[in-house]
Amino acid sequence: MAILKSLEEIKIMKESCRITALVLQKLKESIRPGMTTSELDMLAREECVKYRARPAFLGYRGYTAAVCVSINDEVIHGIPSPKRVIKNGDIVSLDFGVEKDGFYGDSALTVPVGDVEAKYQRLIDITRNALEKGIAKACAGNRLHDISAAIQGYVEKNGFSVVRDFTGHAIGRALHEDPMVPNFGKPGTGETLQVGMTLAIEPMVNEKRFEVKVLKDKWTTVTVDGGMSAHYEHTIAITENGPIILTLPE
Ligand code: MF3
Ligand code: CO
Repeated sequence: MAILKSLEEIKIMKESCRITALVLQKLKESIRPGMTTSELDMLAREECVKYRARPAFLGYRGYTAAVCVSINDEVIHGIPSPKRVIKNGDIVSLDFGVEKDGFYGDSALTVPVGDVEAKYQRLIDITRNALEKGIAKACAGNRLHDISAAIQGYVEKNGFSVVRDFTGHAIGRALHEDPMVPNFGKPGTGETLQVGMTLAIEPMVNEKRFEVKVLKDKWTTVTVDGGMSAHYEHTIAITENGPIILTLPE
């Protein structure tokens, strides 16, 4: 069951989400071919100090960095490394979150680096649009899987696939709260959405097959067929007036 938040709580949560968005934007602007994924992690940590926010992923279930950096066929949870160099033509998914004043924010995006093939830019665009389609269904009175079905329908109509093994989630005083928010499902099913729910909706979209596997480092998740993958995520709140995106920089 979802933990409902008051308007007051959502107001506090807006700050952790705003900081999450600002840091993510900074990371995005800083990406250059030739830089290592560790450099992005260091930057994320510095930004957390600046905003007096705690990086939400660092130490979470033993995760050793502040940000997840997942390149090309890596879907999610890429661990920053001083040996991993970002190249021209890569698509780089950045996933980041903070805790501030007891509440969490969580957001992700995929950055095209330099000259990216048109089909991979399209993968990125479809994933971002899929998140928007999902958010649009996050209205009180709708059902949870209306969000899931909107994402899946849009992605598959455009010839890509949605990852099944990982999902979005409710979020608040914990990074992960119930319920999970799958990116596939049947409309008209799942729990009824209510005012006060705060959700991290996060489509992970693959170029080819939806199947993924976790590498020996126990985190890095890649497509089984080597196809490219993109990821977008926003933390949103369901209000009387519909969904509002909390992870925006303003
Ligand atoms: N945004 C991801 C999630 O919602 C990242 C968390 S995994 C972590 O699950 F371990 F890196 F924190
Ligand atoms: Co998340």
